Amino acid sequence: MKKEIINIGILGLGTVGQGTIKILQENKEFIEQKIYPKKIVLKKLADKDKDKILLDKNLYKIFTNSAQEVVADPEIDIIVETIGGFEPAKSLIMQALNSGKHVVTANKEVIAKAGYEILDLARENKVNFLFEASVASGIPIIGALSNSLTSYKLKEIMGILNGTTNYILTKMSEEGKDYEEALKESQEKGYAEADPRKDIDGFDAFNKIFILSAIAFRAKIDPNNIYYEGIRNISKLDIGYARELGYTIKLLALARNTGPDLDIRVHPALIPKRHALANIGGAYNGILVRGGEFGDLTFSGLGAGALPAGSMIVSDIVDIIKNYDNYNNRYNYFEKKKIRDFSQTYSPYYLRIRVKDRPGVLAEIASVFARKKVSFLSVIQKGEAGEVVDIVFLTHQAKEGSVQEALKEVARLECVEKICSTIRVVEI
Ligand code: HSE
Repeated sequence: MKKEIINIGILGLGTVGQGTIKILQENKEFIEQKIYPKKIVLKKLADKDKDKILLDKNLYKIFTNSAQEVVADPEIDIIVETIGGFEPAKSLIMQALNSGKHVVTANKEVIAKAGYEILDLARENKVNFLFEASVASGIPIIGALSNSLTSYKLKEIMGILNGTTNYILTKMSEEGKDYEEALKESQEKGYAEADPRKDIDGFDAFNKIFILSAIAFRAKIDPNNIYYEGIRNISKLDIGYARELGYTIKLLALARNTGPDLDIRVHPALIPKRHALANIGGAYNGILVRGGEFGDLTFSGLGAGALPAGSMIVSDIVDIIKNYDNYNNRYNYFEKKKIRDFSQTYSPYYLRIRVKDRPGVLAEIASVFARKKVSFLSVIQKGEAGEVVDIVFLTHQAKEGSVQEALKEVARLECVEKICSTIRVVEI
């Protein structure tokens, strides 16, 4: 007999766990129309915090401090893992899959570190491991890449994949707020990770672009070879200069299928104001997908927060239940691919260099760059003439390794006080 009641257990009642509960409760009727005649029952909720505040007091009846108890419950059919971080999340997921339970998660870190292994285990056990909420929270990008965009090989994905840093950069740029103040606000709004360094230093966006690359290019790749850098060094000064030049600064995640290898990286970038991603502001995420005859596709939506992430967890639950009686394996092909060494990648560059204000300085710097085959698009002196001034250089496309070598030499010139900023530029 087909199972009509599908029991759910949730591990971790932080922002995303609580958002999931709220949606399952408030939209119950609407959700169950899609899975009729099946019904969803919240069977058990676990969090290590004994005093977790649950808005619906009735839920304390199904609350436990033991994630183990939930995973071991034979009546539970689907485990929602919203603990975050690597362990114990990974072991709990593996245990659940091994005991024949489906798993839904928002945990990008676990997928980046152990995704292929987990998917293998899910396949062996004929259950699903779904993770739509792990990338760009409210945007159904994984579904689009794996279910809809299946007719052409994709060439490129560009994304603003971290809501916290996008919120911070937007507040710094549009309201002149300080970094610290904007970060605090994004934490209060529930956008930031429990440890916000994961957002700020690019780790979160790195996990997400790994996931998108693996799915979009059907690639088996080693995440350890992906370069990532966060927004700690972005100053209001650079945001202002970039604006004058017609750009906005964003934390950009990029993945290009070059054919022989994949160019995947995360770093801040100057984006031209008329680029599709330039106006993705606040906690919004944006993703541009290129390739195929469908033209450029741009997705945007809330990339962080309880309800955007919760809504994608619920849609994965619905997906599993709709196919409950006919298991189908959604991820069956990954081809080993090499990630291009970061030093071998190309971009135009924005460089801000602080120099002594005297004749001949530009020529000295230019000759170093010329020797390394880095050519300039424009050079602008910033600020009042004085002892020292900042010079902003925009380069043509140049090799990362050559730019870094040139900068090392430039930093040693007597006329140079400091290399203030090195930011890559994106072309339309
Ligand atoms: N901390 C993440 C972000 C939450 O800011 O985008 C969603 O993954």
